[in-house]
Amino acid sequence: MTSYKPAQRVSSLKPYFFATLNKKISQLRANNVNVIRIDIGSPDLPPADFIIDKLSAEAHRADTHRYTPYGGTPAYRQAVTDYYKNRFDVNLDPDSEVVTLIGSKEGLFNLSQILLDPGDLVLIPDPGYPVYKSSAAIAGAETYKMPLTQENGFLPNLDAIPEDIAEKAKIMWLNYPNNPTGAVASLDFFEKAIDFARKHNILIAHDAPYADICFDGYIAPSMLQVPGAKDVVLEFNSLSKAYNMAGWRLGMAVGNAQIAQLLNTYKTQIDTSHFEPILTAGVAALTGDQTWLQERNHVYQERRDIVVKTLQKLGFILETPPAAIYIWAQIPDQYDDEYSLCSAILEETGVSITPGGVYGEYGKGYIRISLGTATENIQKAMQRLTNWFQMKGSPTS
Ligand SMILES: Cc1ncc(COP(=O)(O)O)c(C=O)c1O
Repeated sequence: MTSYKPAQRVSSLKPYFFATLNKKISQLRANNVNVIRIDIGSPDLPPADFIIDKLSAEAHRADTHRYTPYGGTPAYRQAVTDYYKNRFDVNLDPDSEVVTLIGSKEGLFNLSQILLDPGDLVLIPDPGYPVYKSSAAIAGAETYKMPLTQENGFLPNLDAIPEDIAEKAKIMWLNYPNNPTGAVASLDFFEKAIDFARKHNILIAHDAPYADICFDGYIAPSMLQVPGAKDVVLEFNSLSKAYNMAGWRLGMAVGNAQIAQLLNTYKTQIDTSHFEPILTAGVAALTGDQTWLQERNHVYQERRDIVVKTLQKLGFILETPPAAIYIWAQIPDQYDDEYSLCSAILEETGVSITPGGVYGEYGKGYIRISLGTATENIQKAMQRLTNWFQMKGSPTS
């Protein structure tokens, strides 16, 4: 049997957590286990009909099936510009400050490739979205963890970053509203982070795909609302969660023009944009009627309340998140490892939950529940958890 030697930079690469979990769940389902997934952050609801209708109408046109221009259509970049103006009152230049992305994950990964050399240093939140770390590792760069703890409101303590680390760092990753903690950041915090980045010549990559999923009247800001932010910030955003379009793979990076152009140039060597009808339907999503999002957020809020109430009763320690689609909860005292807890729950109840350790060292002892599953199934999952913990003898049973 022929065996090929992988490139050194990928030789220690492990499969993405959810790729492995998907396989395990397929096996359980093949054995007739009724699995309810409240692990991955993939919205179950569809986008509004007018967006789907636009995709369909555009796909029926004869002239939309060729290669789309590099950098996406000017109409899509203009729509991103209009969205930033309408939603955040932020002005962007569609030609130099907007990058069309194949989902924001692609942009996050490629940002690391265009900025990082082996031995470079990146500041990452821990817990945090795994791609910040893996994309740095593939570029040969090192990561310095900024702990996100309950005591700090899940915000990094910038004053605790040693001077030599700050001087060496090239990128600081931030993500608010936050995955996995559901925490939010104020404009004051963003301002402080921008001052820090300016002082140490760091690019802030602010990952904001949950900015449009807010509860109880909260409205998440863009980091670009801070005056002068574009000097040091590239903000990532996406239609995946904001518009229930995760499978469409449509995102954006906006802000610092130098980095945006570098990313655009790099991408001309790697991909050839999207299927044009997807971009045109994306324009409809970004610039069309936005009122349906409020109703969608009410659905998430109802699910959030069901999960929070159940977990609190079962002895988990958690806060009610004001935004995003996740519940981040510390496991009850009598359990010391979230991986074995999640495994036992999956095998014995069919409910799939994400162990916090997937998001880093500071995720140890936590679980993450996603709200991207039908309300009825979330209710069923919570009932199964309640029965399971009662059977095991939780402190409240
Ligand atoms: C914090 C964060 N960033 C980026 C992404 C990637 O989103 P997409 O590539 O679908 O835009 C996700 C997806 O879960 C996420 O949670």
